Amino acid sequence: MTIALYPGTFDPITNGHLDIAVRASRLFEKVVIGVYDTPSKDLMFNTEERVELAELSVKSFTNIEVKPFNGLTVEFASKVGAKAIVRGLRIGADFEYEREMALMNNKLSPEIELVCLMASLKYQYLSSSRLKEVARLDGDIYDLVPEPVAKALKKKRENR
Ligand code: COA
Repeated sequence: MTIALYPGTFDPITNGHLDIAVRASRLFEKVVIGVYDTPSKDLMFNTEERVELAELSVKSFTNIEVKPFNGLTVEFASKVGAKAIVRGLRIGADFEYEREMALMNNKLSPEIELVCLMASLKYQYLSSSRLKEVARLDGDIYDLVPEPVAKALKKKRENR
């Protein structure tokens, strides 16, 4: 079975991430969304919440799974049997960032390939931080995130 790992922080998962995961699920027999447990970023959602939101968002796709992970992405890729790491490219700067990560990952595990998909035009400006900022300020984010994420963002805002 050809398996791909789609790693990220997913704080929270957005329609931009979903676009990449779903398109990858048409290329690979199975896609594992790997939710990185300990990124060096301030998080709005803890790992359990990020995993749950991703799971709810992909529940209609039978060949997409969600798992949390720690440590090196390439090690987690080997652990789940992934032959490829999938990443989305939005703007030019993403390419430079991905290129550096890919070179390091290739040094660590040359057998794992990087597959980059171009982000769809309508999500090229989207990032989780931008989304959270707009949500905090009560902006309309409903067409940018899956419904469970919109609800979770609303709840966070109300509990502040
Ligand atoms: N649509 C919408 N947003 C997108 C996107 C897309 N297609 N692609 C990326 N983004 C956003 C993300 O939401 C994120 O937003 P934020 O910074 O506001 O939170 C931003 O773009 C950066 O995304 P990404 O590059 O995927 O970073 P990440 O933090 O989500 O994931 C890891 C980075 C986890 C993959 C990387 O740090 C890693 O592999 N860590 C594990 C340790 C390791 O192996 N290190 C060595 C790597 S060489």
